[in-house]
Amino acid sequence: MMAEKVTLNDVGPRDGLQSQSRVLSPADRIQLVTALLDSGMRHVEVGAFVSPTAVPAMAGTDEVLAGLRENTGSGDVTFTVLVPNVRGYELATAAGARSVCLVLYGTDGMAEANVGMNRLQAESAAKEILERARKDGVRVTSTIAVAFECPFEGRVEPSLVCDMAGRFLELGTDELCVADTIGGANPGQVRSLTAALVDGYGASQISCHFHDTRAMGLANVYAALESGIRKFDASIAGLGGCPFAPGASGNVATEDVVMMLEQMGFATGIDLDRLMQAATLAKTLTGTAPGGRASAWLDYNASSNKTRSLTETRNPSR
Ligand code: COA
Ligand code: ZN
Repeated sequence: MMAEKVTLNDVGPRDGLQSQSRVLSPADRIQLVTALLDSGMRHVEVGAFVSPTAVPAMAGTDEVLAGLRENTGSGDVTFTVLVPNVRGYELATAAGARSVCLVLYGTDGMAEANVGMNRLQAESAAKEILERARKDGVRVTSTIAVAFECPFEGRVEPSLVCDMAGRFLELGTDELCVADTIGGANPGQVRSLTAALVDGYGASQISCHFHDTRAMGLANVYAALESGIRKFDASIAGLGGCPFAPGASGNVATEDVVMMLEQMGFATGIDLDRLMQAATLAKTLTGTAPGGRASAWLDYNASSNKTRSLTETRNPSR
């Protein structure tokens, strides 16, 4: 039987790098994205058009996009850039971006902290971006940040997230991503919210974004998978985590997610050996990327070329 497909979007070059104390050059960022592409990754969030004062690490995303276009040129890769406001959208499209990620918020507190708007102001800016993108033929992922828990306001009502998701799907977003921005969700919450979303809107346009702050990242991926979600964000080598915000850590590591999915019999299209090379590069470039929780085991397998054991232990029923 053909293995069922799960799509991964590596957000390390954006979500991971934005909080690093070491600012990477556009050339280094291009090298990291290229290593991901070499592993078979087909969706990468490569940067953000945000204020360079607010997020110095994302300055030069226009150069990253231009360099990648030159290197790859192939049509089957989606390079997404984050746009926090309409100005960001204008800068992104002027730089040739064909896929953007806009941000919605579960709370006023997070919207204020991130973009100096309240939740509804951010939503109306997002609507404007979506409308313009539909006219421009630009692909849009609408991400609901702090969809489970907010560092300022605590627990977020699932009904608020479902309603917002419904509005943006109706308005024509290509993808709706539910993000546990601070890694506060547990698998029970994830299972129930994603089940409600899949019930209401189907799974094909919904994706999930988890952080591993409380070591529940992979369990949360599994919970969403059980609800039928088949697209996930993850970050190479678990890159992320702000040294100035104790308690917040990086996204669930791409290599851990790929390993789990492949071992369960899903097809990710990603070569783990090569992905481990991208993880090593992420560690070298940043000096802080922790690597996935299974990195010692994965490194051992990669070095002794035993990754075949992974596919051998696949559940044959999928
Ligand atoms: N990219 C680059 N510059 C931008 C911008 C964007 N998306 N949006 C606004 N600016 C510029 C303005 O043009 C203005 O420039 P000027 O001083 O030369 O006229 C300056 O930034 C200040 O604009 P203002 O509207 O007052 O914004 P602000 O200072 O309140 O900052 C954001 C607002 C959204 C630009 C800033 O908070 C930001 O970049 N946040 C993103 C945070 C982030 O990336 N979080 C993680 C991902 S969710
Ligand atoms: Zn994130």
